[in-house]
Amino acid sequence: MAQETVRLECPIDAMFLIHNALRAQAAKVEELVRCFQTGDSLQMVRLDFVNWAAALMFHAEQEDQNMMRLLDGYGPAVDGVREHAELEVKLEEVVTVFSDEIGETQVIARTQRHLYGAVVALRIAQDDHLESEEAFVLPEVRERFDEIKQLEMMRCLLIDDQAADRRWVLEWMAAMLPSGECQLLAGFERKCATVAVPGR
Ligand SMILES: [Fe+2]
Repeated sequence: MAQETVRLECPIDAMFLIHNALRAQAAKVEELVRCFQTGDSLQMVRLDFVNWAAALMFHAEQEDQNMMRLLDGYGPAVDGVREHAELEVKLEEVVTVFSDEIGETQVIARTQRHLYGAVVALRIAQDDHLESEEAFVLPEVRERFDEIKQLEMMRCLLIDDQAADRRWVLEWMAAMLPSGECQLLAGFERKCATVAVPGR
């Protein structure tokens, strides 16, 4: 279950901010698809879906490398890696509905039903995954790793050193989160600036 009010008692708690942004983005895409009228353009929902896909894939990859892997063999972390792969499959299913419609300028009822079904399936899988990570993986991270290591993990999830715009995750989150959580995020970003950049 998501924390109703996010409190950053230790660095890994900033994970709730990312998860809440993912939940908000999923809810937005689902609502856009639900409200489609026959004849609407797919363009708007496609833009939001691309943001969701990019954020979710980056999150999963970084967690696999910088968090799940370090919990070597801990059952819920192994499950987490498997769930990440399952989420990728569900993302692909949404992409397939979009690609089947390439060249179509108008959405027909059948497309909307298929898109809605694929988006809801992805959102449910994401919710289940985030909930079990919060219940089982994050307490283990708090237990096993000190604050500096937790901060290093979170930095990997928030700053994309490989991208031209290293802050794109933070900017996407700021667009998804309510103002109180945006303020927590801004404070946390300053904290991240104090940890060493990996590989330097
Ligand atoms: Fe996560």
